[in-house]
Amino acid sequence: MKKSGYKIAVVGATGLVGRAMIKVLEESTIPFEELFLFASERSAEQEIPFKGKLNKVKNIETTDFKGIDIALFSAGKDVSVKYAPSAARNGCIVIDNGSYWRMHPQVPLVVPEVNPKALLKHKGIIANPNCSTIQLVVALEPLQKSFGIKRLVVSTYQSITGAGQKGLDHLFSEIEGKEPKKRVSSHQVAFNTVFHEITDESGFSVEEIKMKNEIRKIMDLPKLPIAVTCVRLPVLGGHGESVNLKLENTFDIQQIRNIFRNSPGIILVDEPIKEKYPTTQLSSGRNEVFVGRLRIDDSVRNGLYLWVVADNVRKGAATNAVQIAEQIINDDLFEFTCFDF
Ligand code: A2P
Repeated sequence: MKKSGYKIAVVGATGLVGRAMIKVLEESTIPFEELFLFASERSAEQEIPFKGKLNKVKNIETTDFKGIDIALFSAGKDVSVKYAPSAARNGCIVIDNGSYWRMHPQVPLVVPEVNPKALLKHKGIIANPNCSTIQLVVALEPLQKSFGIKRLVVSTYQSITGAGQKGLDHLFSEIEGKEPKKRVSSHQVAFNTVFHEITDESGFSVEEIKMKNEIRKIMDLPKLPIAVTCVRLPVLGGHGESVNLKLENTFDIQQIRNIFRNSPGIILVDEPIKEKYPTTQLSSGRNEVFVGRLRIDDSVRNGLYLWVVADNVRKGAATNAVQIAEQIINDDLFEFTCFDF
């Protein structure tokens, strides 16, 4: 039965994404009974404003999550591994922003504009996809529905904020000519182009592997051919993605523009002659995905170019997690059998 107010927690409340989660929760329509903020012992007792009141951050070790309806986690892998299963066992639905649970067969990986029905089968832990994946599938889904997608080629232009507060600190230290206290890349980040961590013999970066797997899982297209290159840039505001699609059926650009105009969560900015197109700065602080630079790709049959931009900290993380929480509340999906994670 729907309640008049919900108990919601943010885990990693002092981090870049955690702070954005609090902001997006404040802007959301969720009726609150109470907001709980958790981080490590280091920042316990810090105070963060929410709806006109100061909320104290608590050490995560002091909670068992009993009585909390939904917890949004963004505190790194170790915290997700250690605390998400026990929180779910204690009846708290976890929406985890980390990558650890995303490909688990019992964990739905959800972008509400694309696969909201996956939430119906949740077993206590729900995963929020990778930032580059979220904005891309929002743009791909309407095209898949109308024309079918035969092949996807994507190159990302990702903000350093994808590496969290550490990423920002690394960038600004170098801009100021100082050695960063913690590095997010072995290379210089400022004024440079770098790649995400590469740990696979295949040569693909961790980010590239995540994108391939997650796109296929969310869109339920396990065999979709995907070519992906992910690049990290010293930009703020959002991620950009250059996309080339081979569609199944014929189309014209005006048709595609109309589809995007009528798709949830998308803003079309595509007036080429006026040089109107989405920039990462345009997306900053916004919850929507921006699409533009639509062009015919005549190097293949039914080929299409797109440029897709979104605020990676908002739609790529905090906003998507809050939208999942809203969906759970609206559809009253609190009854669940917890999987033995
Ligand atoms: P803290 O401020 O106490 O370190 P970011 O990705 O921007 O670096 O943020 C990481 C978030 O995760 C911060 O809120 C950080 O809290 C939190 N965090 C990191 N490690 C832990 C931990 N072991 N237990 C609880 N929270 C953690």
